Amino acid sequence: MNEKYKILFDPIKIGPVTSKNRFYQVPHCTGMGWQRPNMLASMREVKAEGGWGVVNTEYCSIHPSSDDLPHAYASLWDKSDIKAHHKMTTKVHNHGALAGVELWYSGANASSQYTRLAPLDVNSRPNLKGLPFQSRKMDKQDFSDLRRWFKQAAIRAREAEFDIIYAYANHSYLLHNFQRSDINDRNDAYGGNTKGRSKFLKEIIEILKEEAGSQMGVAIRFSPDEDNQNDPNETLDFFNEISEMPDLWDLTPSNWDIELGSSRFTDEGDNLQFIDHIKKITTKPVVAVGRFTSVDAMVSIIKKELVDIIGAARPSIADPFLPKKIEEDRIEDIRECIGCNICYTGDQLGVPIRCTQNPTMGEEWRRGWHPEILPPKKTNDSILVIGCGPSGLEAAHSLGKRDFTVLAAEAKNTTGGRVVSESNLPSLNAWIRVKDYREQQFLKLPNVDIFLNSKMNVKDIIDSEVEHVVFATGSDWRSDGFGRSNTRPIKHLLENTNVFNPDDIMKGDLPSGNVVVFDDDYYYLAPIISEMLQKKGCKVTYVTTSSVVCEFGNYTSEQYNYQKSLLNSGVKLIFSKNILSYSDKEIELSCMYSNKISTINADALVMITSRLPNDSLYYELCNEYDTRSKFKSVKRIGDCLAPATIASAIYDGRKYAMELQDEFSENYLFKRDSNLNI
Ligand SMILES: Cc1cc2nc3c(=O)[nH]c(=O)nc-3n(C[C@H](O)[C@H](O)[C@H](O)COP(=O)(O)O)c2cc1C
Ligand code: SF4
Repeated sequence: MNEKYKILFDPIKIGPVTSKNRFYQVPHCTGMGWQRPNMLASMREVKAEGGWGVVNTEYCSIHPSSDDLPHAYASLWDKSDIKAHHKMTTKVHNHGALAGVELWYSGANASSQYTRLAPLDVNSRPNLKGLPFQSRKMDKQDFSDLRRWFKQAAIRAREAEFDIIYAYANHSYLLHNFQRSDINDRNDAYGGNTKGRSKFLKEIIEILKEEAGSQMGVAIRFSPDEDNQNDPNETLDFFNEISEMPDLWDLTPSNWDIELGSSRFTDEGDNLQFIDHIKKITTKPVVAVGRFTSVDAMVSIIKKELVDIIGAARPSIADPFLPKKIEEDRIEDIRECIGCNICYTGDQLGVPIRCTQNPTMGEEWRRGWHPEILPPKKTNDSILVIGCGPSGLEAAHSLGKRDFTVLAAEAKNTTGGRVVSESNLPSLNAWIRVKDYREQQFLKLPNVDIFLNSKMNVKDIIDSEVEHVVFATGSDWRSDGFGRSNTRPIKHLLENTNVFNPDDIMKGDLPSGNVVVFDDDYYYLAPIISEMLQKKGCKVTYVTTSSVVCEFGNYTSEQYNYQKSLLNSGVKLIFSKNILSYSDKEIELSCMYSNKISTINADALVMITSRLPNDSLYYELCNEYDTRSKFKSVKRIGDCLAPATIASAIYDGRKYAMELQDEFSENYLFKRDSNLNI
């Protein structure tokens, strides 16, 4: 191991237990929760195998009145939960790591849609998710019940053989709400001054400590930077009340959009500025997050004594083997998180987690995929990959690791496809890591040959004499208006020379003057292009058929930031309007609700609506030849098959490579996980 990274592998005491190193997978959801215990246990096992000293669960409900479905959460309600968690702790322990559980009681932030129980909270408040109900104000009996529920959950955690047990006291959940003077309006012993507001958390910590005994360390997840205009020292005063009580502090900023900031809006380590004052106040070890992937940055913040332990959610998702690669001096093999937050969509949509950089995330149990180990090939077949965008790169990379002979042809003078053009847009530069990681891996794969500037035709494909051909030729943005809202191209739109699409913009062909950006796509490109054009001197109006900017950003925790950023940049916003026509500089709009027609003037129109797969060469080949007599298989993957996210394209590349002449994972949908299987 490189001498300068040795400090990262110091053992760290967390109360009665010891982590073998300073790598700590903080609690993170997976879209699996109590419903999919086998998928969950296998996923956490891979992290432990990859060298993380501590591997935590996601938020883990202590009682049915803390219910968040459809957002999947763990639970410790009964014996079956103990059994399910024991599966995970055993697998984690098998690799020498500690297993932690984040005990969670929600309060007004719970959905309560599954159990239909009114959540208890400091007071009766409207539900924070916007659902039409309020929480129930805790009375004397409720305090006693909650103490009992925490105690029972702690006992179950001990039986499940956890090593670390959490009081989850931030993110606007119950234990956090007691802390905040702007929320806690109680005038009994649990409200009023700092002592009153900290009383309940102190009681819970004491209960957890008692049940933890010598088996478990007690951690608190806490945000030490609450904004409070009345009393700027409020959080610090609160912290001072309990600073020595737990065995570990897990600190995050109070603003979720910063804590979970995507790389578009936050940089690695940005979180530290909100918590770096705490280490001086407590003698207990401190863990903090910051989308850390730079090993030198990790060493530096430990040496500067800002933190004791490196916390990571996303870096551990993108590369479960990050610690091991550092330990084995294989820094170049680290698959760095790109900060796109696609991993968060699983939790938000109630489906298993996924990751752009790590296509195996969530597939460890049901498909048997492993992030580092791929099954060897069974025959000496060779494969021609046409197109080296994200899906082609991943297919070539994974096939290469299976030891196949791979020829990969790219028409352009560089690999990466859309990743290259999109990462050149403002603040998306971290996305180039998708290409960088895979290109780095090719250096170790002599069986993969990449041919740049190699536009293929049907004859080239036939002459290649390979057994398998896979088309990964991507897609092109349409300019004709076809999309979600217009099921046919808009008449005469393409006759207008002032109509652009994202490909034009990314190639540097930019409009000027009064520009309308039309967003029927609902993701990041339209707001980014709008803001970029505004900054370049255009007067931009953003028109969308949606009622918000970047609607899909609701699932990646980016919607708020995208809308705020557009507003701050001076772009004019028009919501819930479709475009009917554009001629003589006049754009005709129709209200999505009333169908009322209005007009605006524009020198140019950027249409961000949908894409067309680049599949003409595929059809040419299939039409000219009986491909079954020439090849063992001819397939399409990624955007060339069905345009989607970069994460989907990479997943498709991996899937193709794993399923090639292997029944290894084809029937995964029949391996459905449920908590009846444990
Ligand atoms: C997919 C996902 C799910 C998360 N779920 C939880 C959770 O259940 N409990 C929690 O305290 N934090 C949760 N977080 C926040 C992380 O613990 C962490 O604070 C945040 O991701 C910033 O760390 P990072 O930059 O290392 O990702 C989640 C984060 C992600 C990416
Ligand atoms: S989905 Fe994106 S943000 Fe999440 S871990 Fe993977 S690369 Fe990082």
